[in-house]
Order: sequence, then C-alpha cells, then structure tokens
Amino acid sequence: MSKREHPSFSSRIGFILVTAGAAVGLGNVWSFTYVAGKNGGGGFVLIYLLTLAFIATPVFMAEMLLGRLGKASTPTSLKKLQTSAGSKLPWALPAWIGLVATILVLSFYAVISGQVMAYGWEALQGGFAGWEKDQIIALDKAFKADPSVPIFWSILFLVATAAIVSLDIRKGLERASRLMMPVLFVMLIGLVIFAVLRADFGAAFNFLFGFNEMQLSPKILMEAVGQAFFTLSVGVGGIMLYGSYMGDDVNLPKASLWIVLMDLSVALLAGLAIFPILFSANIDPAAGPGLVFITLPLAFSGIPGGAILAFVFFLLLTFAAITSAISLLSPPTARLEEAGWSRAKSAWVMGLGAFILSLATTLSFSSWADFYPLAFLGFEGMTPFDLIREGVNNVVLPLGGLAFALMVGWGLKREDVRAALPMENGALFSIWYGALKYLVPIAIIALFLTAIFGGGH
Ligand code: PHE
Repeated sequence: MSKREHPSFSSRIGFILVTAGAAVGLGNVWSFTYVAGKNGGGGFVLIYLLTLAFIATPVFMAEMLLGRLGKASTPTSLKKLQTSAGSKLPWALPAWIGLVATILVLSFYAVISGQVMAYGWEALQGGFAGWEKDQIIALDKAFKADPSVPIFWSILFLVATAAIVSLDIRKGLERASRLMMPVLFVMLIGLVIFAVLRADFGAAFNFLFGFNEMQLSPKILMEAVGQAFFTLSVGVGGIMLYGSYMGDDVNLPKASLWIVLMDLSVALLAGLAIFPILFSANIDPAAGPGLVFITLPLAFSGIPGGAILAFVFFLLLTFAAITSAISLLSPPTARLEEAGWSRAKSAWVMGLGAFILSLATTLSFSSWADFYPLAFLGFEGMTPFDLIREGVNNVVLPLGGLAFALMVGWGLKREDVRAALPMENGALFSIWYGALKYLVPIAIIALFLTAIFGGGH
C-alpha cells in the first residue's frame, strides 16, 4: 500500500489528542483504582510508576515507530519490516496475537463501560443525589445480578463503537477529543478538591504513596507492570496502528511524552479523587472491579447538584471508554479490510465477536462468580473475567511489548531507527535506544522468571 492511500490525522495536535484519547480510558479510572486497591496501594503504585516511566513509555515509542515505518495494518507492517530487516523470525506473530488480545480486552471493556453508561442514565433521572451508601451498593449488586441488564448496556456500547469505526469519522473524533479531554480534566480536579475538603484525603495519600507497608509479591509486580502497559495501550498493536496514521511532521518522542503525561495525570487524579471517598466511607480498598461504581456515586451523592455532575462525569467517562474501544476495534478491522472485507462488515463482525466473549465477563459478575475454570492449574479463585483481564494485561501486553522492543532495538538497523525520529537530542535517543535494547528485555524477562519461579501467576 502506498503512503498516499494510507490515511493520516489532520494535524499534530489532532494526532496527540486522538492517541491520548485511545490511551486514556477505563484503565485510568476503573482499573487503576481497582487494581491499586486490591494490591495494597503504595508498593503497587511505586512499581507502576517506575514501569510506566522506564519500560512502558520506551515501548510505547517503539510501537508507534513500528507503525510509522510500516504504514499498514499491524501484521502487514511487521511483515514488511521483517523483510526489510532481513530477519527469519516471525515478526507478524506478535501482531496476530495482539489482534486476538484487542478483542479479548474489548470484551470486558464493554461490560464495564456498559455499567458506566447505565450510571450516567441513572444520574440523568436524578439518581445518586442524596443517596446513602447502602443504596449505592445495592444498585451495583442489582445491576450485576440480572445478566440481561449488563448485556443490554454492553450491546449499546459495542454498537456505538462499531458504528464509529465503520463510519471512519476520524475528523469528528478529533474535534470531540479536543473538547472532552479538557472537561474530563477539570471535573477530575474538581473531584479531587471535593475529596480534600470533605473526605479522608490524608489516608488516601498515605495509601497510594506510603511505601512503608510495601509487601512485594510476584503477583503485585505482574499487576503493576500489566497496569502500566494497559493504561498506555501498549503491546497489542493499537498504538502501532495509530502511529501508522501519524503525519510525518509529528515529533514522535515529544508527542509520546505528552500522551504519557496526560494518561498519568488522569490516573493520579482519579486515584486522589476516589480513595479519599473510599476511606471516609469505610469501604474496603480491595472491593474489586465494582470499586468506582460505589465510590463515584458516593462522591456525587454529597455534592449539591450531584445528579447533574454525575451525569456529566459518567458521560465523559463513557466517551473516554469509547475512544479507547475504537483503538481496540481498529487493528482487527484494518487487517480484515486488507483481506478485502468492507470496513463496515469488518467492524461489525469483530464487534459481534467481542460481544459473544463479553458474556464471560457478564456472567463472572453473577452466576459464574464462584466458577474458577482453571483452578486445577493453580489459578484458584479466578473467574473467567479475572483470567481474561489478568491473562491479557499481565502476560500478553508485556510480552507483546517485549517483542516490539526487540524488533526496534535488535531487529532494525540503528541508522534507520534514528532517521525515523526527528529527535533533536542525540543523547536522549541513545538513552531510549539503550533502554529498548537492554533494560526493557531484561526487565520483562526477569519479571516472567520471577512470576514463574516465585509462585505468582
Ligand atoms: N489504555 C486503555 C485504557 O486505559 C485500554 C487499552 C488497552 C486500549 C490496550 C487499547 C489497547 O483504558
């Protein structure tokens, strides 16, 4: 495919906002708080921050660079690069695994996003204002108890996502991201201020950043690394595909830095907004995937005009989730288009696949809550949802990232990599390149060895 046929974003800022929109999603608000809470806070957050800075960010740039060089669907991009690097290794393989992973992520993403949408709807009818904690907990329970409710909302979410992907309204998305992102920031900052004034901010701060009670296990290590990759969308090819749409005038390292900073700020703000409310309402930080669905409504229940604010917030979160879901559905869609399918057919068929798989997550929250299909392999206490989420986030994403790091660090020629980066600073380039060549592979391999031999899974 020639460069001219392959679409690109209209402007530099447009590229940054759309890619930040793909990165910022449920990972920052829902999964960051749920996983940090489940894993005891401080130690988890420290590892998450270190991995984000030194491992996931360099790999994020590498993945984007592979897209810029390949300018096609992800398996095709990597196949091309394999040929030009003269390598005998199956470079396209991680991209194919990534395509499967995007649909698996989308499957649980749809269920959680569905609940976000449902809560927006609840708020629109005046819900949450003045509600008691028990009422809020009951709503979360009721939502999950009858699978037809989450199924309805997941379908709605997937239909919206597939429709946007099939219509290819990238321009519209750019415009919408420009407006929604800043509003999401302002609302999060507002929630943090509320938490400082009215909730137990001190306890939350200690929990998130107090490293005194750090108990590191291989499992926490995996979760923190998985979360760092998940939040930046690294490892499945979504970022590669967006990189392939990037105009040649975009400064890749600078753009990456902006995207990472936006992503990190949203996660930290969400943490600082949600944990104070949790501590002052005596909710267990390890409450699980329903955590935000209890704490966020609780925050809004105590704020004047809470129902309207709750509606706006859940709407923004829905939007953030949709922009991420688009980046999940786009890579398989792009590959099917290359195979001659129409864009619409590709998007709808893959969306249907995600829906079927999403039933495993929906049921994990109700009748399968005590169903541990891989208990015989030692995965005790893990529902199908846990297996999908942890398997993809903590295993597939880091291994995909490892493959991308090796391709850029060892597969491609250093001059070619250097030429593709308009980075003014040679020293920075060397640090990044060195990280991809040595630090990232060693760290990820060490992580898996620790997990395998240290008893984690
Ligand atoms: N980064 C997205 C989030 O934080 C999730 C995602 C993962 C999107 C992998 C695409 C690929 O919500």
